[in-house]
Amino acid sequence: MGLSSNFPVAGLLIGFSLLACLYINHLSSHADRLVMSVRDEQNVNRAHELFHTRVSNPPKPQNDSRSVSHTKKYQKAVVPRVSECTMAVESRFDCARDRVLSQGECEERGCCYSPLNDSTGPPWCFYPRLYPGYKMGPLTPTARGQAATLTRASPSYLPRDISTLSLEVIEEARGCLHFTLKDPTSQRYEVPLPGGIPQSKVDTQDVLYTTEYQSNPFGFIVRRKSNGRVIVNTTVAPLLFADQYLQLSTSLASSFVSGLGEHYTSLRLDLNWTSLTLWNRDMAPHANANLYGSHPFYIVQEEDGFAHGVFLLNSNAIEVMLQPTPALTWVSTGGILDLFIFLGPDPQSVIRQYLQIIGYPMMPPYWSLGFHLCRWGYTTSNTTRKVAQHMHNASFPMDVQWNDLDYADKQRVFTFDPWRFGDLPEMVEEFHKRGMKYILILDPGISSTSLPGTYTPFDDGLKRDVFIKNATGHILIGKVWPGPTAFPDFTNPETRQWWEDCIRDFHSKVPVDGLWIDMNEPANFVQGSVEGCPGSDVENPPYTPKVVGGQLNSGTLCMSAQQKLSIHYNLHNLYGLTEAYATHSALIKIRRKRPFVLSRSSFPGIGRYSAVWTGDIRSDWEQLRFSIPAVLRFGLFGVPLVGADICGFGGDTTEELCVRWMQLGAFYPFMRNHNDRLNAPQEPYVFGQKAQEAMRSALNLRYSLLPFLYTLFHHAHTSADTVARPLFMEFPADPNCQTIDRQFLWGSSLLISPVLEQGAEELAAYLPPSTWYSLHNGQPFYSVGQYLLLSAPLDTINVHVREGHIIPQQVPALTTSASRANPFFLTVALSAGGWAWGDLFWDDGDSLDTFEMQNYCYVIFMAGQSQIVSNPLKLNGALDGLVLGWLQVFGVPSPPRYVLANGEKVSDFTYRTDTKVLTVTNLALPMSEAFTVQWALSR
Ligand SMILES: *[C@@H]1O[C@H](CO)[C@@H](O)[C@H](O)[C@H]1NC(C)=O
Ligand SMILES: *[C@@H]1O[C@H](CO)[C@@H](O)[C@H](O)[C@H]1NC(C)=O
Ligand SMILES: *[C@@H]1O[C@H](CO)[C@@H](O)[C@H](O)[C@H]1NC(C)=O
Ligand SMILES: *[C@@H]1O[C@H](CO)[C@@H](O)[C@H](O)[C@H]1NC(C)=O
Ligand SMILES: *[C@@H]1O[C@H](CO)[C@@H](O)[C@H](O)[C@H]1NC(C)=O
Ligand SMILES: *[C@@H]1O[C@H](CO)[C@@H](O)[C@H](O)[C@H]1NC(C)=O
Repeated sequence: MGLSSNFPVAGLLIGFSLLACLYINHLSSHADRLVMSVRDEQNVNRAHELFHTRVSNPPKPQNDSRSVSHTKKYQKAVVPRVSECTMAVESRFDCARDRVLSQGECEERGCCYSPLNDSTGPPWCFYPRLYPGYKMGPLTPTARGQAATLTRASPSYLPRDISTLSLEVIEEARGCLHFTLKDPTSQRYEVPLPGGIPQSKVDTQDVLYTTEYQSNPFGFIVRRKSNGRVIVNTTVAPLLFADQYLQLSTSLASSFVSGLGEHYTSLRLDLNWTSLTLWNRDMAPHANANLYGSHPFYIVQEEDGFAHGVFLLNSNAIEVMLQPTPALTWVSTGGILDLFIFLGPDPQSVIRQYLQIIGYPMMPPYWSLGFHLCRWGYTTSNTTRKVAQHMHNASFPMDVQWNDLDYADKQRVFTFDPWRFGDLPEMVEEFHKRGMKYILILDPGISSTSLPGTYTPFDDGLKRDVFIKNATGHILIGKVWPGPTAFPDFTNPETRQWWEDCIRDFHSKVPVDGLWIDMNEPANFVQGSVEGCPGSDVENPPYTPKVVGGQLNSGTLCMSAQQKLSIHYNLHNLYGLTEAYATHSALIKIRRKRPFVLSRSSFPGIGRYSAVWTGDIRSDWEQLRFSIPAVLRFGLFGVPLVGADICGFGGDTTEELCVRWMQLGAFYPFMRNHNDRLNAPQEPYVFGQKAQEAMRSALNLRYSLLPFLYTLFHHAHTSADTVARPLFMEFPADPNCQTIDRQFLWGSSLLISPVLEQGAEELAAYLPPSTWYSLHNGQPFYSVGQYLLLSAPLDTINVHVREGHIIPQQVPALTTSASRANPFFLTVALSAGGWAWGDLFWDDGDSLDTFEMQNYCYVIFMAGQSQIVSNPLKLNGALDGLVLGWLQVFGVPSPPRYVLANGEKVSDFTYRTDTKVLTVTNLALPMSEAFTVQWALSR
C-alpha cells in the first residue's frame, strides 16, 4: 500500500561467473544442462561471499553535499554550418536535454537550432553531425582486455565536466562485452559489484561481436560478427561525462525494444520521442511515471530471430530517451558508465548472459506457488480467521493467509496490536496445523517517537547505530504509517545483524513463514525529512530527470542522507534490494528453511532474494491488461516470481473483472488477491455461484499444474530460463510474435490466452506455427502461425499445450501440503511424429539448497512409438509413496486395441475418436521407479 497517483503528496549482491559466462549456448541435452547448472550455482555462491568483502571496503562517496562552484566556462563555440545541421528530424539528438534553451543559448553551445510545429517530438536544439567531444588515445592491451584514455580539449557545457576519462573494454565471454568509462583521477561511486571481473582473458577466436572505434570525437561500434549487423553505435551523438550528468547515445538495431522497467507500458516500448525515468518511487502504476523499481536493461529483437541486450550498471537516477531513429540515449546523474552488451544470439541466451552478471533467481518454496489472499482491512485476528475459513468452506484452494498493517500496534513493525490481534501467535499456529502458511507486511520505517524503553527496535537500533543519517550526522527522521520514523541503512552490516535480531525476536512470538517488505523505495510522506533537506547540488542537481514530484527527494529521503556505502543520492535505487537481501538472509538463519520475501521496490539482482509484485494497481480492465507486460518484463529482469494484485488493489472490482483476473492470475507465477481498505470485497467467496465456480476451476487448474510450474522454477534457478515467457522468446523468428503481450507462455509448452475485455466471451488468439492442443479437452489446432477465434465463456481461460511436450501434473487439493501427496498425472501432447518430452523436479519443497546439496528427485518423461516411459535420473526419497494415477495422451491417431502399464494389461482406458485423446485411468505406478505405458494401435 502506498501512494496513489491521485495523491502526489503523499551487490552488492551481484554475482559474476566466468565459467557461467562461457556456457552461453542454449544447451540442448539435459545432461549438459545439469552440469552447467552446478557450476553456475557454485559461482553464484562465491559471489555471495564476495559481497561481504566488498561491503567492508566501500568506495568513496561521490557528489557530496558541498556545492562546488563550476564556473570554468566552456569555449564559446562556433555556430555550425547549415550542412552540418541538415538531417532527417528522426536523426536529431537533443542538445538541450539538461534545460530549455533559446536559439542564442543553443548556438552558443555550437548546436543547431531549427524549431518545429510540435514541441513534444523531435528536439529544436540538436547536435550537428560533428560535435567536439572526447578524443581517444591509442588502445593498449590490459589483463582483462584493452584500455584507452579519452581527453577533451575544452570542457563541455556541463558543470564540473570531467575532461579525461579512462575507457576499458573487457571481453567477458563469447557473447558478453563490457565497457567502462571512469574518471582516472578520482574514484567515483560505483555500484558494488562483488567479485568484479574475472581475471582470465577469454579466447577471442569465436566471440560473437566485433568492435570499432571512432577516435575523434570518440565513439564505438559493436557489430554482430556473424552478419555484420550494428548492435551499438555511439557515434550518433556526443558522449558527455560531468560529475552529475553522464550521457551516452546509441543507434538501435531495430525498433523492437523491451525492458527498462519499471513502467506502465506495453512489452514493446514506444520509440516515438518518449522518455523513461528509472528512480524508485512509491507511486500507483500509471503511464509516464517512474514506479517502484529500476532496471537499466533492454533487449532488442533483431531481424531473423537474433536478439541482444544492454545493461547499464548504474544506480543513480537515470533517464532513457527513446526516439524513432531508432536510437536511445542514457542520461545518468552520477556514478560511472558501466555497460554490458549481451550478444545472445537468441533472446533466451541474452537473458541468461544478463543473469550471469546479476545472479540467477532463487528457488521458491513450493507452498509459495499456491494461492495467497490478502487485504488491508482485515482488522482483527478473528476477521482474518474467518476469511481463511470461508475460503476453506467454499472449497477454494489457498496456501497463504496474509495481513497488511492492521496487525501492528500503532502501525509499528515488529509489534502486534494487543486487543485486535492479541492472539496472533495462536492464529498462525492454527493455520500451520491446517497445512497453511502465514505472511505479514514489514515496512522499513522504524517509529522514532515511542517512549524510550517501550519499543526495542528503535532503542536497539539507536544503540547499534543502524539508521540513515542526515547531512549533519543526525538520524534522518521522515514520516510513514506510524508517524515519525527512522530508516535502517541496509548497506551497513551491523544493520543487517540488527534486522535479523528484530525478525528473530518477532518470529519467536509470531512464527511467520515469509515477509512482505513494502514501502521500500523507500517511501516517505514528507519530502526528504521532517526538517526538509539542505540546499545542495545533490538535492537539486544541475539536471533532474523527469520524476514524479519534480525532485529526486520527492516522496523519499534527502539525497544528502548518509549511508555506510555512500550518500542516498547514489544508493536510493538500491534500498529495496539491500533490504530484500537482509531479510532473505535473516529468514534463512532464523527458519532454516527456504525463505520467502516479497518486495515492492527492486533493482537488478533482486530475483536472487525476493519475489516482486507490481504495486498498488487499480481494479480496472486496462490495469488487468497491462499486468501481463509488467509480469513478463520482470521475467526478463531475472525476477520470475512475480504477480500483480489480482482483482486490483485500488477501487472497486466487478464480478466479471474479478473472474477474468483470477483466471489470468492463476498463471501469474506469484498468485495473490489483494485489496485496499475501503473497497468492495473481492475474496472469491463473496461472488455469485457462477463466478465462484469459474474462480474455483481456475484455482484447481493452477494447483494441478504446480509440479510443472515448480519444475520451471528449477530451470530458472539453475539455468536462468524464464518462467512466464513472452512469445518472442520462444518463437524469435516469427514476426507475429514480436509484439504480443496479451498472451504468454509458461516455459516453452503452455500458451495462455486470457480474456482482457469487458463482456468478451471469445478472443482472437495467436497460435505460432505448431500443433497446439486445448489443455481442457485435447482438441488439436494445426496452426501455420495464425490468429484463431477462441470461445471463452466466463468459466473458461484458454490454455494450449504445444506438441512434443509432456506436462507433469497432480490432482489438486485445498493446500499444497495436501496436493503434494496426491496422485500425479501426465498430459502428453504428441508431435506429428508421435514424440514428446517432459521433466519433473521434486524435493521436499521447503529445505534450503536442495539442488546444490543434491537432495532432490529429477525424472524425465519421453513418449514415442506408442509408449511413454519415465526415467528417474535422480532420486532422494522425496517421491517415495507417490504414484502416477492417470495420464492423457493428445494426438493418438487411432483407437488403441489394448494398453499395457509396466507390461500388464490395463482395463481402464478410453479413446475419443473426435479429439484423438487416449485417457488411461486407475493407474498406481510408483513415481520413484521407471515405468512404461504402451498402447497398441489398430491397423
Ligand atoms: C507548421 O505550421 C504552419 C502554420 O500553421 C504550417 O503552414 C506548416 O505547414 C506546418 N509545418 C509542418 C512541417 O507541419
Ligand atoms: C554510426 O552512426 C553514424 C552517425 O549516424 C553514421 O554516420 C555511421 O554510418 C554509423 N556507423 C555504422 C557502422 O553504422
Ligand atoms: C508520434 O507522436 C506524435 C505526437 O504525439 C504523433 O502525431 C505521431 O503520429 C506519432 N507517430 C507514430 C509513428 O506513432
Ligand atoms: C464453515 O463451516 C463450518 C462447518 O459447517 C461452520 O461452522 C462455519 O461457520 C463456517 N465458517 C464460515 C466462515 O463460513
Ligand atoms: C475471537 O473470537 C473468539 C471466539 O468467538 C472470542 O473468544 C475472542 O474474544 C475473539 N477475539 C477478539 C480479539 O475479538
Ligand atoms: C539533521 O537533523 C538534526 C536533528 O533533527 C537537525 O537539527 C539538523 O538541522 C538536520 N540537518 C539537516 C542538514 O537537515
